[in-house]
Amino acid sequence: MKQDLYEQARVAAGQAYAPYSNFHVGAVVVAEDGRIFSGCNVENAAYGSGICAEGNAISSAAAAGVRKIDTVVIACLDAGECYPCGNCRQLMREFSVETIVVQDGAGSLRSHTLDEILPHSFGPESLETNT
Ligand code: THU
Repeated sequence: MKQDLYEQARVAAGQAYAPYSNFHVGAVVVAEDGRIFSGCNVENAAYGSGICAEGNAISSAAAAGVRKIDTVVIACLDAGECYPCGNCRQLMREFSVETIVVQDGAGSLRSHTLDEILPHSFGPESLETNT
C-alpha cells in the first residue's frame, strides 16, 4: 500500500515543472475518506511564485472538499532523502495529516508523524484561545 502510493508519487514527480532547480518532486495525499490526490512542484520565472509538490496535492484535495488528510507520501527523482519543506509541513498541519512517508535514499520508505517533523506547531486550535 505504502509502496503503491510512493510509486504514484514518483509518477507525479515525473510531471514536475522544474526548469530552474531541476529538482523533481511528487506528492500523493490520502484523504480521510480514502480519496487520493497527487501533485508535483511547479516552478516559475519569478522564483518565489513556485509551488511545492505537497502544496499542490494538498490544494487539489482541499478544492475537492477534503478537510482531513491521513497520509502524505513524497517522492523525489533527484535526491536520496527528501523531507518536506517547512511551509509544506505547516500546510499539512492545517489538515491534520497523521503520517508522512518519505524516501530514505537507500530504497526504503520512512514514516513519520506530523508531530515528529513539526513539533510544538501552530494550528487552527491555536487561534481558538485568542478570543
Ligand atoms: N520542493 C517541493 O516540491 N517540495 C519540498 O518539500 C521541497 C522542495 C520543490 C520546490 C522547488 O521547485 C524545488 O523542489 C527545489 O527546491
